[in-house]
Amino acid sequence: MPHILITGANGQLGRALVAQFASANRLTCWTRPGHDIAEPAIASAVAEADPDIVINAAAWTNVDGAEKAPEDAFAVNALGPKYLAEGCARCGADFVQISTNEVFAGEAGRHYREYEQVSPGSAYARSKAAGELAVAACLDRLYIVRVAWLYAPGGINFPAKISAAADRLGALRVVSDEFGNPTYAPDVAAAVARMLENRRFGIYHFVNDGCASRYEWAVELMRLIGRESLPITSIAAHEWPRPTMPPPHAVLINQAGAALGITLRDWREALADYVRAQYRH
Ligand SMILES: NC(=O)c1ccc[n+]([C@@H]2O[C@H](COP(=O)([O-])OP(=O)(O)OC[C@H]3O[C@@H](n4cnc5c(N)ncnc54)[C@H](OP(=O)(O)O)[C@@H]3O)[C@@H](O)[C@H]2O)c1
Repeated sequence: MPHILITGANGQLGRALVAQFASANRLTCWTRPGHDIAEPAIASAVAEADPDIVINAAAWTNVDGAEKAPEDAFAVNALGPKYLAEGCARCGADFVQISTNEVFAGEAGRHYREYEQVSPGSAYARSKAAGELAVAACLDRLYIVRVAWLYAPGGINFPAKISAAADRLGALRVVSDEFGNPTYAPDVAAAVARMLENRRFGIYHFVNDGCASRYEWAVELMRLIGRESLPITSIAAHEWPRPTMPPPHAVLINQAGAALGITLRDWREALADYVRAQYRH
């Protein structure tokens, strides 16, 4: 029974990973403040825990906040994974680093496969891209798993915010020129489990199949929760000012996983499962 150590175990993906691996593995679950990955001592803590596999689901995920505190984001997203990878090197563990679609520029019309050139455009994205480089410099037995537009029941995510705004305002304005892959965290966790069975190290893009604009995602969510008559106005990204402009089209393609038979279902099917879990439909 492999011993798996999961960091960020209280986050959206962390909780899905804990649920995925709880039955057939020995699990160690790390959360803050007991285990802060930005502390260099975390490397020794990993070596002492002596797991077979470390999955790093901890991250600074406040994209807009990273613009104001880039050093803090860098400490968690670049140095944190580096310390964890150093710990893995010392105890011989395999390492899974979770990364993001935002490492790509997201030019209009582009879809990104695993080994394409990254070009991060925000402080958050630069910190995540640095994390990818830092772990690759420490370890060979490494998986980098990029995900996008992640959501899970109980998390702070786009569907939860949109649904709260619908309740509060009775109408929505949603950006229609930003595209991505809405991705259900439990589906990523299942794909990671299959990836670990294959034990082929490298970069993976685990996203639900298909892509959508934020507007299309909101429309589908409203349909699934029976609020299709709610007025939704499509707006351009520049009409929704933010401290960072996200990549407009950082859509990922799962090529490496698909070649091993690891595919994720269509994003609409996954969203329907989320609605059932979140709203107990
Ligand atoms: N959410 C998305 O849309 C999205 C998109 C693309 C990629 N990703 C990537 O997917 C991964 C998982 O994201 P998520 O949505 O599950 O994030 P999340 O829900 O924000 O969870 C992140 C977890 O990391 C923990 N954490 C933050 N700083 C830490 C530190 N210094 N030491 C230890 N733990 C720390 C947080 O703890 P607290 O609970 O104490 O804050 C939280 O539990 C991340 O690598 C993220 O970059 C996410």
